[in-house]
Amino acid sequence: MIAVAIDGPAGAGKSTIARQAAKKIGFIYVDTGALYRTVGLFMLRNGIVPSDEKMVAEEVDSGRVKIGLTFQNGEQKVLLGGEDVTGQIRTPEVSVASSQVSAIPKVREFLFSLQKDLAKENHVIMDGRDIGTVVLPEAQVKIFLTASAEERAKRRCKELREKGIEADFGNVLRDIEERDYNDSHRAIAPLVPAKDAVLVDTSAMTLEQAVDTVLDLVETALSSN
Ligand code: DC
Repeated sequence: MIAVAIDGPAGAGKSTIARQAAKKIGFIYVDTGALYRTVGLFMLRNGIVPSDEKMVAEEVDSGRVKIGLTFQNGEQKVLLGGEDVTGQIRTPEVSVASSQVSAIPKVREFLFSLQKDLAKENHVIMDGRDIGTVVLPEAQVKIFLTASAEERAKRRCKELREKGIEADFGNVLRDIEERDYNDSHRAIAPLVPAKDAVLVDTSAMTLEQAVDTVLDLVETALSSN
């Protein structure tokens, strides 16, 4: 099986780029952030404070958090106790909760085998924060995709405006910098490039250029194997 690991900070365009690249080469695109988001959603729904390590770990250990992934026409759907919650994990509350639960070792352990198993059975492009370093250190292709905080804030504001939500650039930028800091300074699985990852900065790239860059890297890695 072939695995392409794409890691990087929030808002670098990982999911859009990875989804399009996967479609072009017929691999499954796995968005691992959705798994952390679903754990966060479970905690919120059940009145558990997502930053309460002891309570969150207890829930995970109890076996009550039942998460699954399915693919419909190549699109990933995430299931919580059999319910499709794909449309409910993109709220700001769930974003914060997912970031909090992702710092809890028990949660990472819990999601590890799910991610690992997908890559055992399918050619995958998997995106996240620790795919090249922890989940799939054996991946044939490792990419660390990034963009400047300003560029990411600009893209996020545009995205929000397209949804009819007015966004303050300064606030959005501050949120992004705060999330970057938390994700890269946490004790467990911090966001750092794998030693053998290729750094791709998308600040000055169009979406098409970024997708082509990823596909070129995949092609080069596979032809030299
Ligand atoms: O990529 P995203 O914004 O959907 O991720 C949601 C949160 O989950 C984010 O705060 C970081 C965390 N995450 C992680 O710790 N490890 C991953 N492999 C993917 C996401």
